[in-house]
Amino acid sequence: MRHAPIDPELFVAHRRRLTALLPPGAVAVVHAADIPPTSGDGTLRLHPASDLFWLSGVEQEESVLVLCPQASDPAAREMLFLRQPNDHLATWEGAKLTKEQAREISGIKRVRWLSELPAALHALLCESGSVWLNANEHERAAYEVEDRDLRAARALVARYPLHRYERLASLFRRLRAVKSPAEVALVRRAVDITDAGLRRLLGALRPGVMEYELEAEIVGEFIRRRGRMAYEPIVGSGRNACVLHYLDNDQACRADDLVLVDAGASYANYCADLTRTYPVSGTFTTRQRAVYEAVLRVLRSSIARAVPGTSLREWKRASQVEMAAELVGLGLITADEAAQDTPDEPACRKYFMHGLGHSLGLGVHDVAPLDGPLEPGWVITVEPGIYIPDEGLAVRLENDVLVTDKGPVDLCSHVPIEPDEIESLLARRS
Ligand code: GLY
Ligand code: MN
Ligand code: MN
Repeated sequence: MRHAPIDPELFVAHRRRLTALLPPGAVAVVHAADIPPTSGDGTLRLHPASDLFWLSGVEQEESVLVLCPQASDPAAREMLFLRQPNDHLATWEGAKLTKEQAREISGIKRVRWLSELPAALHALLCESGSVWLNANEHERAAYEVEDRDLRAARALVARYPLHRYERLASLFRRLRAVKSPAEVALVRRAVDITDAGLRRLLGALRPGVMEYELEAEIVGEFIRRRGRMAYEPIVGSGRNACVLHYLDNDQACRADDLVLVDAGASYANYCADLTRTYPVSGTFTTRQRAVYEAVLRVLRSSIARAVPGTSLREWKRASQVEMAAELVGLGLITADEAAQDTPDEPACRKYFMHGLGHSLGLGVHDVAPLDGPLEPGWVITVEPGIYIPDEGLAVRLENDVLVTDKGPVDLCSHVPIEPDEIESLLARRS
């Protein structure tokens, strides 16, 4: 694995939190993700299943975790099933986890080979009433491909139709939203890697540079620092920055444009998600600075409003009201239009049309209760923006914030964001 070893106590604690919510006589089964196919015999790198990783730290394909907290055989209460290593696998794919390595990573004592799974599960199902299975219930998941958890669920339901089946996803949604200090430390590390990547990108920013050259700078730095891309970076200059999911990154940056960079590293599968917007020339024009400072004010006050007990809806709504006033100041909407602002038809939506932020962790858009409320331990992004296609101009600023009882902690407070600081960093380019 690319990241440094993680203390298995993190995963032990996560299993304890999950099993505390399971009723008597429950058995839970969680699978690894599939290796994603491309075309022909091609595949992408495995993206470890977040729920399995959260419970075990295991990133290897085909792994299965079975939890049965009240199994009559104490040794069967926590079992991890793995592909059995062999010479052929070693030659073609490299070393697979040994049982001892898997024990060290996960803190699970009973590690077995996959060939033993059907019989072991049968024994547990004979003494269990409810079976807790996993499925991707992310509210924004829109793909049609069936994953391993779902295929296994179909097979189990067909083989054991009289058991009661329950949804683990609803438990993960609550549990994973609240991060432990060890998880926050991993997000911080991802933020620090992203900061290094953005600073490197700043060193390469000049009129005429291609958006993909900037992407190469930032991604190279992520990899050099044991990270990966948490998602495909957006590097959009000028009007391209108004396309919210711009991924082509194939245009030249012009001197009079801003360039918007939305890029985050992941470290040990924990994600950062940051956006910065820079003047290609090294200096903001008066108009660019005015739009930038308006977004920065909304960012700062939205961070301040990220306090426990606030629903995500209320939190976003406050930013829309504030943004409408900023848009009046920028001459983008009239005071009359701002006065007609309602939650269903926010006055800002022509120029600020997306959400204010989302939960962050093992997923870039991490699982969390849909409307909160925010709780201590949540890590969220805060990402207001103003998009003005008619002016070929967009600004988005995105920081990652830890919600605590003592107020919000901005995990990105060290990543340059003040316009003067950005100009002075750009003035020092070689
Ligand atoms: N980079 C994805 C997002 O900001 O939500
Ligand atoms: Mn985001
Ligand atoms: Mn982002």
